[in-house]
Amino acid sequence: MKTSIITGGAGFIGSRLAQRLIQRGDIVYVLDDLSTGYERNVPEKAVFFKVDVSDPGRIRELDLPGKADTVYHFAGQSSGEASFDDPSGDIDRNYRATYNMLVASEQMNAKRFIYSSSMSVYGDVDRSAPMVPEDYECNPASYYGCNKFASEKFINVFAKHSHIKPTIFRFFNVYGPGQNMKNMKQGMLSIYMSYLIRDIPVTVKGSLDRFRDFIYIDDLLDAVVDCEESERTFYETFNLGTGIKTTVSRLLEALLNVFGKGDFDKWVIVEGNTPGDIKGFVADMAKLKARMEWSPVYKIEDGIKEMKKWVDETVDLWKD
Ligand SMILES: NC(=O)c1ccc[n+]([C@@H]2O[C@H](COP(=O)([O-])OP(=O)(O)OC[C@H]3O[C@@H](n4cnc5c(N)ncnc54)[C@H](O)[C@@H]3O)[C@@H](O)[C@H]2O)c1
Repeated sequence: MKTSIITGGAGFIGSRLAQRLIQRGDIVYVLDDLSTGYERNVPEKAVFFKVDVSDPGRIRELDLPGKADTVYHFAGQSSGEASFDDPSGDIDRNYRATYNMLVASEQMNAKRFIYSSSMSVYGDVDRSAPMVPEDYECNPASYYGCNKFASEKFINVFAKHSHIKPTIFRFFNVYGPGQNMKNMKQGMLSIYMSYLIRDIPVTVKGSLDRFRDFIYIDDLLDAVVDCEESERTFYETFNLGTGIKTTVSRLLEALLNVFGKGDFDKWVIVEGNTPGDIKGFVADMAKLKARMEWSPVYKIEDGIKEMKKWVDETVDLWKD
């Protein structure tokens, strides 16, 4: 039986990971300050600590296990746009918190440290065939991207001076059941869907020919969970997307289709833009596929249908 620590385990990705690890029989500890997450997301069988992991004193007060197998550090301010509202807070939540969790991991003798970095480390990639491999130049366009990139560098230096074996994933656009449908600053697909749930036209802040690489949550978690024992992923950084390009207009068509709303011009309003936004690029997934047996299985239409089912079941939480 493994002992796993998940920071951000009340959030979208961390809570689904917690469910999975509990299902396989792990003892799971969740550390989350509920800044964007919800306690109701934390599985009942997890040990839950409401704590801000950017405060080292608060982490030291916790009754954490003396020995842990893996720390999944997924807590963080998760929006590029919001990082412009509070750059200093973003340093605490995304950079300082990473250092604190590395120290805590060492104290728990954790073997593995798995980190949720972001495609935002690349910034505005300017290429005609924008398939981005991990060694592409990192030039973040938001404070969020800066702090994710700084965290990656910090983890690599820290790992050289400790027994912790890290794996860093640069998540692309993750979507699926469990996403926070009230957070209008993070998650293009969930933001658009949240308009449709309330039966109002989608406001698109930016052009329709921008594009993204959307990855369904369960495809993402397959890679995250399987890498734990996969030695060829130790000390490495990987993109985690699908490599498939979906334009904003194509995404909107798929969403309108699933919601049974046919008239594009009636349901989509294009106005303004988003600070730190990018035209788009997709993940080159060759490195991860060479080191692990992993391939995404969900097509965007299928993922949206799964998400819509979940939204229908939980609609009372999101409508007001
Ligand atoms: N969702 C995506 O598309 C995406 C893409 C790239 C990277 N990521 C990264 O993946 C991780 C998880 O993202 P998510 O989509 O689940 O976001 P989320 O906002 O749903 O989850 C983040 C969780 O971290 C918690 N948190 C934030 N600051 C904290 C702190 N200082 N102490 C304790 N808890 C804190 C929040 O309450 C929340 O529950 C984040 O680090 C995010 O930056 C997500």
